[in-house]
Amino acid sequence: MNNAVILAGGMGKRMKSDKPKVLLEVLGKPMLQWVIDACNDAGISNICVVKGYGADMLDEYLLGSLRTVLQPERLGTGHAVSCASCFLEEFSDGNTLIACGDSPFIDPETIKSSLELHIASKSAVTVITACLDNPRGYGRIIRSEDGIEGIVEEKDCSDSQRKINEISSGCYWFNTKKLLEALPRLQRNNSQGEYYLTDTISILKSDGCVAQAYLSDNQDSVLGANDRAGLLKLNDIARMKVIFKHLEAGVELISTDAVTISPDVKIAPGAKILPGSMLMGKTIIGRDSVIGPNTRLLNVTVGERSTLDNVVATDSRVGSDAKIGPFVQLRPGSVIADKAHIGNFVEIKNSAIGKGSSVSHLTYIGDSDVGKNVNFGCGTVTVNYDGSVKSRCEIGDNAFIGCNTNLVAPVKIGEAAYTAAGSTITKDVPDGALAIERGTQVIKEDYAKQKLKRHLDKGKALD
Ligand code: UD1
Ligand code: CA
Repeated sequence: MNNAVILAGGMGKRMKSDKPKVLLEVLGKPMLQWVIDACNDAGISNICVVKGYGADMLDEYLLGSLRTVLQPERLGTGHAVSCASCFLEEFSDGNTLIACGDSPFIDPETIKSSLELHIASKSAVTVITACLDNPRGYGRIIRSEDGIEGIVEEKDCSDSQRKINEISSGCYWFNTKKLLEALPRLQRNNSQGEYYLTDTISILKSDGCVAQAYLSDNQDSVLGANDRAGLLKLNDIARMKVIFKHLEAGVELISTDAVTISPDVKIAPGAKILPGSMLMGKTIIGRDSVIGPNTRLLNVTVGERSTLDNVVATDSRVGSDAKIGPFVQLRPGSVIADKAHIGNFVEIKNSAIGKGSSVSHLTYIGDSDVGKNVNFGCGTVTVNYDGSVKSRCEIGDNAFIGCNTNLVAPVKIGEAAYTAAGSTITKDVPDGALAIERGTQVIKEDYAKQKLKRHLDKGKALD
């Protein structure tokens, strides 16, 4: 059965990061995840990740979703694959894809077509290659009449080899059995003193096996990142690629300025994304909705014809025909129903806001269940936390919350009930009732006038 080993043990010294290099992100998604997704999309489900530097962080990220094997010390890509030998032996009747966790753009089509060539040419190994304008840093492909002769690393190249612009992507298909035969024969006699996986090619050739190159016409698919500048370049390339994919699908952008869309975001045709918007994670935007300007959404689902203007939202849902913003934060667990309006300087957390309800200004709603057509006056605060326990507020359909009301949870406001402005509500309010909690207004006639007079008289006395 076909399987994949993803090399992810390297430290990525030049990144100067505490994280393993493969967890650094391109468009908000770790490079390793791009490679895992490409394998899955190509139909490969048996995957083993070789971890090394920062193995704990990698385990924490993968949460047991994939098999991993530890490379105890970094002795090169060949050594890394050897560490997965037990995994390979389980699938020794098939073919193995070896992929680098720091080369995120390997795509499912390239993986599948290179496997077809690999099988058709009965190769022991098929290297995915590309011709680059600037091949610096990559292993060069030495072609032969019947396929390829080998791969020479940049640091081991002669002057003429360095001029070759066909490079190895670091991604290969191997006949698993042949790979297992070649791995123990790798030597460290190169400029970096490492066990190079690339040397398996000359070993297999010397056994009389066929070695092929699958030349990809997509230069980007082989790109890797070894330093921060390389990572920025990958982000730039991916950003425009994702944007153009959405433009083709009928999404409208008036400018690409500071628009970043993660690769797994889904946007329906007719939606409009305005400058300064970051759509991250598994965000989904419905038809004809307008997002931005300056809006950051992480794992947010938005329905149709809604507008989100200057909004920061995380792990939340917004229905259709809703109007959110400007200057709104939706924290995790917010569910805003159709036709609701959330206006400026409003924060909502872990709360449901019912259909047609309006929270127009300067309000905090946390841990609350709000019914339909509820109106919140300016400056309402749900007092959901007493310093140790968080409690919920329940607000019935058609309720009207007066300006500057505190709702001290747990508390229930009945259907169509009113709270008077400035009230601090600590007891449940029955359906249809009015709750007032504030001192009676006292009028002291002429108090201010007399005070002014005393002030003026004092001034005269000093003259
Ligand atoms: C490697 C290839 C090179 C290819 C390039 C493509 C070798 C010797 N060189 O070079 O031919 O053009 O990729 O990007 O294979 N890793 C481990 N353990 C190790 C060393 C590396 O797990 O001991 C992992 C790294 O995390 C990385 C991948 O293997 O994901 C490639 O290693 P890296 O050091 O980046 O190799 P390159 O010099 O880029
Ligand atoms: Ca690399």
